[in-house]
Order: sequence, then C-alpha cells, then structure tokens
Amino acid sequence: MAWVTACFNITIAYFIIIILSVNPKFPLGLKRNCGRIGAYMERTLTEATVKQIGQTVTLMGWVNALRTHGGVNFIDLRDRTGVVQVVGGRELKTLHPEDVVAVTGEVVKRDPTAFNPKINTGEVEVKLATFEVLSPAQTLPFPIDTDGRDIDEDLRLKYRYLDIRRPRLTKNLRLRFAVTQFIRHYLAQEGFVEVETPILTKTTPEGARDFIVPSRLQPGLFYALPQSPQQYKQLLMVAGLERYFQIARCFRDEDPRKDRAYGEFTQLDMELSFTDQAEILQLIETMFTQLVKDIFPAKHISPQPWPKLSHGEVIQKYGTDKPDLRQDQSNPDELAFAWIIDFPLFTEQSDTDYFHGSGQAKFAPSHHMFTAPHPDDIPLLDTDPTKVRGLQHDLVLNGFEVGGGSIRIHQRQIQEKVFDLIGFTQEQKAQFEHMLTAFTYGVPPHGGIAPGIDRLLMVLLAEPNLREVIAFPTTASGRTAVVEAPSAATTDQLAELNLEVKSRSYTSPYEHILDLLKTHQIKYQLYEHEPVYTSEDAMKIRGDVSLHQGAKALILQADKDFILLVVPGDCRADLDQLRTFLKAKRLVLASKDSVLKKTGLAVGAIPPFGSTLGLITYVDPRLADNQAIVFNAGRHDRSVKLAYRDFIKLEKPVIITA
Ligand code: AMO
Repeated sequence: MAWVTACFNITIAYFIIIILSVNPKFPLGLKRNCGRIGAYMERTLTEATVKQIGQTVTLMGWVNALRTHGGVNFIDLRDRTGVVQVVGGRELKTLHPEDVVAVTGEVVKRDPTAFNPKINTGEVEVKLATFEVLSPAQTLPFPIDTDGRDIDEDLRLKYRYLDIRRPRLTKNLRLRFAVTQFIRHYLAQEGFVEVETPILTKTTPEGARDFIVPSRLQPGLFYALPQSPQQYKQLLMVAGLERYFQIARCFRDEDPRKDRAYGEFTQLDMELSFTDQAEILQLIETMFTQLVKDIFPAKHISPQPWPKLSHGEVIQKYGTDKPDLRQDQSNPDELAFAWIIDFPLFTEQSDTDYFHGSGQAKFAPSHHMFTAPHPDDIPLLDTDPTKVRGLQHDLVLNGFEVGGGSIRIHQRQIQEKVFDLIGFTQEQKAQFEHMLTAFTYGVPPHGGIAPGIDRLLMVLLAEPNLREVIAFPTTASGRTAVVEAPSAATTDQLAELNLEVKSRSYTSPYEHILDLLKTHQIKYQLYEHEPVYTSEDAMKIRGDVSLHQGAKALILQADKDFILLVVPGDCRADLDQLRTFLKAKRLVLASKDSVLKKTGLAVGAIPPFGSTLGLITYVDPRLADNQAIVFNAGRHDRSVKLAYRDFIKLEKPVIITA
C-alpha cells in the first residue's frame, strides 16, 4: 500500500515539475534567453581592457566625461574598477554625463604620445562599434568630480546616492569595508566569535538619552535601542564564549558634534574573559598597528609602543584627557595613539549624567556603571569614593577619543555598592537584576573595549567630520539622508500603538502642509519651480492648470483679527460679502509688512492652510468649481496640487455663504 502511495506521489510531483518548467512564471532555474534584463549581463570591466588589446568587448557603466570635437568624440566610461576612454563618431554626441550605457568595441593600444598616466587604463582605448543607453541621466544637482567640500551639505545628503559617486566618498566607503574586513579576519584568528545582539531591547545607559520604540503587542510599553551592546556582551561572557566581538550599531540621542554622530554610529565592540587590562591594550595595539600597515601604508605611527598615560597626568600636562601627541600636527600622515588609564571611577554628577542614576547622588560613573574599581582602592568605596581609580582605558588618536572600555565588576556586592553610590533607587536597581542574577551562575572575570569605527576612520582618512565616512549619515539637525526621517506616523498607526501626539512643532508652514498630506495619506502633486510672486506667473510655471484652479490666499484684517481668505486665482475677493458674513465693522487687506509679521511669510507664498499659520480659513464658494486646486505651499518655489474635496477635508475651512 505504501508503495502504491509513493508511486502516486512521484507521478504527481513529476507533473508539477513539468507544469512549472513550461510556465514562464516559474522558470525553475532553467536557462532561457531573456535578453539583457534578468539574464546574466556579459560585460568586461574597464580595468580588464588593458589585457584585452585586439579583442571586442562590451563595457557597462556611467558616462564619466564627454569630450566632443566635431567628427571624433570621446567618452570616459566609468565602472567600479575605474575608467576607460571610448572613441567614436558623432553618435557619441547624443550622450549625457552620467547616462548608464553599454558600449561595444575593439580595445586598441593608444599611440604612446596619447598615454594617460592618470588612469589605470591609460594605455588603451575602446573603438566604439555600437552602444546602447541602458538608462539616461538628467543633469545632476551638483558636480561629482570635485571633492565636494564646498557644496551645501544638506543638498549632498538629500542626493547622497549621487554624492557617493564622488571618488573621495567611494574611496572612503571602500576603505571602511577594508578596515572592517581586516578586523573580522584578525579577530577570528585570535579566537573571537562575532555575535549579533538585539536592537530592540531595554535601555543600556551609556550616559546619553535613549531612542524608544513603542510596542504594538503591549501598547503603552516601549523598547529602547541600545546605546551599546554593553550588557549583552557581558552576558555572553557568562555564556562562556570567552572572546566576543561585533561590528555593532549603537544608538544615542545626543547633540551631534564633528566627532559625534547624531542618532547612530558603529563600534568594534569586544569583550574577553579571564583577561586583564594589559592583555586588552596589547591586543588592540597589535591589531591596529598591523591594520595601519596593511591598509594605510602611507601613514606612520609615532610613538611606538603606544604610551600609557594616567588620567591625572594628562589632565595636568595637556589640560585634556584626549591629548594630541603628534610631533608634527600639520602632518596628515602621522598617527599618534595613546592609552589613557587610571581614570577616577566616579566624576561629580552633573545634569547630563542624569540618565545614569537618580540625579540626586554626588557621583556619576566616569565610564559606565559596570567598570571595576582598582582592586587596591576597594576599601575607599566606603570612605572616599572620589579617590577610587577605575580600571578604565581610553584609546586616543591625534586628539580624538577613538575607543573606551574597562575591566568589569563581576561581584554582586561591588556592583550593588556602585549602584548605591550613583544614586540608584530600588526600582532602578531592579532594571539590572538580570545582570546580577546572571552573575550568580559562575561569571568569569572579564573586560573589554569598544573602538568607534566612524571616529577611527575619520582620523585615518583625515576627514573633517564623521559624516564623510558614513554612507547615509544624519544631518546636523537629526534628519536622515535621502529619506528624511523622522516623519509623522499615520493616525491609524498611532491608534494601533495607543499613542496620541499632543502637538508637533514644524520649522515652516511648508513642512507642516507636507506633513499633513502625508499623515492623512492624501494624494498630491508637488511642483518644484523657480520662485513665483503672482498667481499669473505661478500658473505659467505649473503648466497644466488654469488660473481658476489657483487657490489665492489673502491675509485680511477683520476688525482686530487676522483671517485668511481663499479665492480662485482669476477672481477678485468679494470683501463686502465677507464683511456681511462675518458681521465685521472693518475688513481690509493686510499690508505686506503685517502679513510678514503675522505669518513669517511673504505675500505670494501664503498657502490656503490658515491652520498652519494660526489663522481661521474662509473659502470663496467659487473655488468649489474646481476638482483640483493648486497653490504656493508656503514657499515661492513650491506648489502643491490636490483635490478640492481633500483640501476641505484636511483644512475644514469656513465656506462663505451669501
Ligand atoms: P563609549 O561610550 O566610550 O563606551 O564608546 C566607545 C567609543 O565609541 C565611539 N563613540 C561615538 N562615535 C561616534 N558618534 C558617537 N555619538 C559616539 N559615541 C561614542 C567613541 C568611543 O570612544 N560600552 C562601552 C564600551 C566598553 O566599555 O567596552 C561604550 O560604549 O570612539
């Protein structure tokens, strides 16, 4: 019987395979000729052309540069391996910089007088036979063949995917990858295991504010994003991994500085069991020395071995705990590492340390609350805590703190004492009970460190700020590159999370309007255009709409109050009708100055959304003739088109009746 069933199953399976393999929707990996799209694209990389002289190749990439000289024309074709010159006729004139093209032609050796030593393919060129534009490019918002430092940074971040085409940034990202690859390889050989720890977690205080994420399954409760994987890496020591590392993302809500990213940054997070400070310091020194030698051969480290300086000593000598010890600070190739040790375990508690404890206690941890006191100083915890040295180690490079770590407390009594000294309440202590519990099951003495990857790269690449070594960094004001988070949640999302937003602050009425449209999921069209100052000019520039559809917004003064009146662009405001409607004694157009004073906007930019300006909106009934209306959205150079009925739904204006 079993045999019959098996035969039946095999037959069914056979038919399914036949059906799937003939149905083009399920190609089952069978090879078919799909042309270029979807099939493996056969191409030669530009760097390989030097070895293919005399052969016909197909190259794919971007038009890096275009040089037209009448009959004979050139493009430099760029791919991930470099550029190669392509020479052709008039047909090349139809191309634009940054078009993505496939070019076929023969690789020929250039005349030695035409060699270009600046590029890796400078001895050859490709004689164009045919080309195909795979994707045309419009003019880029900024040049990408410069170092880009003089371009407005917000603009660079808005189009970061173009900014990264800039050779400097491409190089930075490639070197960043080389650094993390080196580290992974090195540490794997040293017996370390990379472990990913949770992002949705509970607060791990490192002295900054947490980012919190609302829970849908348990409305009213929140996750915190980790400020570092500190607690998890210590738990992994209890778990017996002995040597852990992670290229870890950390999240901190703290004010950005040139060496401090807002929001998130990356650490090489490490922890070792059965270790001491000397071993950790030696491991990092050996690894980074080799890293610099392999990846940054032009740099030299001085002095070697790295000096170990006590905190007290550097403060006294240099007035900072991040001294720049280069012999020649103007030399971009000099790297001066140093260890700072013997920090006091505690500092005086300040407002910014609030997140460590109650804010009431005298002390805050210098590093973090899991840092072990120097064994000789343990009695001082009871008598004079300020004199206790911590087993903390900071790594300094050219005046920047590029790493921090410590030997950890692994005894419950000492941990509890530190909690008391930093002013933890019973409730706050309970938040860390899992650590204390874990430590009752056999915890090896342990310690670790976390060099900041972004900060290390910033110094190694001699970049002026962290954003230059991060693919998609946040702006200084905390907005993300390209996608512009944070953004509002929809009413449905908020309801699901049992949240209510009391009020939001907007930097401009324009931002407020776009936010309203997005939050209420309203369809709209945004026009970005030259600044316009009259309804007529606005109509011309928007093209496909009539003057009657233009929603002209006027600020009026009705007795003492300012109000906003919306009329179709081709109509005059009927002030008599409105005065009667409002039962006002006096109704006049506000002067340009008072409009600016009241709304912060110039005449011509006023949107029909009085609500975004703190004004009541009145609408002329003739506006309802339109299915869609268009208006300047609080800016002379931005217009929005949306359905009239959506406008009414959103703004809930007063419609004037006769
Ligand atoms: P700490 O808070 O000192 O220690 O951080 C370690 C290193 O991370 C980098 N860093 C930053 N880089 C960019 N932007 C930031 N906002 C930022 N904040 C910190 C610095 C710093 O030296 N859990 C401990 C490590 C440990 O004890 O093992 C910790 O996070 O280079």
